[in-house]
Amino acid sequence: MNNEIKNAIDLLNNGEVVAIPTETVYGLAAPINNKKGIEKIFSTKERPFFDPLIIHVQNTEQAKSLTTEWSEIHQLFADQFWPGPLTMILPKNQSVSDVITSGLGTVGIRMPAHPVTLRLIEELGVPLAAPSANKFKKTSPTCFLHVKDEFPELFILDGDTSEIGIESTIISFTPNKVQILRPGMIGKDLLQRTLLENGFEQINVEYSESPIAPGHLKHHYMPNIPIVFKVVDQHFTSEHIPKDILDSSAEWDLPDDPIQAARLLYAQFRVLEKENKKSITINLNTKQLNDDHFQGVLNRLIKASTYFLPKNYSNKS
Ligand code: TXA
Ligand code: MG
Repeated sequence: MNNEIKNAIDLLNNGEVVAIPTETVYGLAAPINNKKGIEKIFSTKERPFFDPLIIHVQNTEQAKSLTTEWSEIHQLFADQFWPGPLTMILPKNQSVSDVITSGLGTVGIRMPAHPVTLRLIEELGVPLAAPSANKFKKTSPTCFLHVKDEFPELFILDGDTSEIGIESTIISFTPNKVQILRPGMIGKDLLQRTLLENGFEQINVEYSESPIAPGHLKHHYMPNIPIVFKVVDQHFTSEHIPKDILDSSAEWDLPDDPIQAARLLYAQFRVLEKENKKSITINLNTKQLNDDHFQGVLNRLIKASTYFLPKNYSNKS
């Protein structure tokens, strides 16, 4: 066993938390059967106990062992998208502690596509609960140094830069619907197409504004200075924004390629906030607003933004 993984396992077995790389963002992990470690996740993150954690598994059998229900659609999505950035909300069974799910009867499960973390879970033999490795409401980390900046004391497994760059798509199920609770890089169109191509034409995929995923609360993913969300090809006036905020702004044009945009987004927040300006302006356009591939990125951007140009954009989504 590699030394880093061995260290991580020793710490985890002792009730310590360890930062782990995933393809989406870095996580702050504890084994699901270690009460001390699970509680330490909440205290380290300064996260309220009402915000549930998702569980990371290394194989489908582990996922099944956490839930009372595993349908053909769950199997289909696991086959198509795992390991990868899709979290499925399923009914939990008794092996999942209420602290992990904040007392909910359901649990979020995903298999991350990162060799280091898959290896860690395999060697440990127990799934890992892990939220993103940032303080509550702050920007998620996409590399070792981002975690180190925020949690200098923490043991971090290095796994290079996260390929995807924003958190997983979270979905829940009703008998005839798949609801997207948190959009991500696996979008509505792809999920719908996968269902259609596999004989589930009666199941509709839709975006939900459900408050049960607190990731949906406004003001999340925020850097230390305000973000101005600016749709450059729409008409707007900027009188509602303090002039000094607009006059001193670090600007970034959101890339046209959604994969690039997601991969760079959080790292850009961190670069731009170090420019000693009073705000960050993210320039985007109407085409991006209407593109399903951008919905994950836009969701994070809207929640991270304080000001909008045009002003009413934030109400439109
Ligand atoms: O990509 C990701 O999902 C990353 C990496 C580390 O895997 N994890 C992540 O975890 O983003 P976190 O805790 O930052 O966000 C998970 C979201 C939270 O908003 C939480 O409220 C929601 O998932 N969630 C967890 N369990 C849920 C449940 N049973 N029902 C509804 N929402 C749930
Ligand atoms: Mg998070």
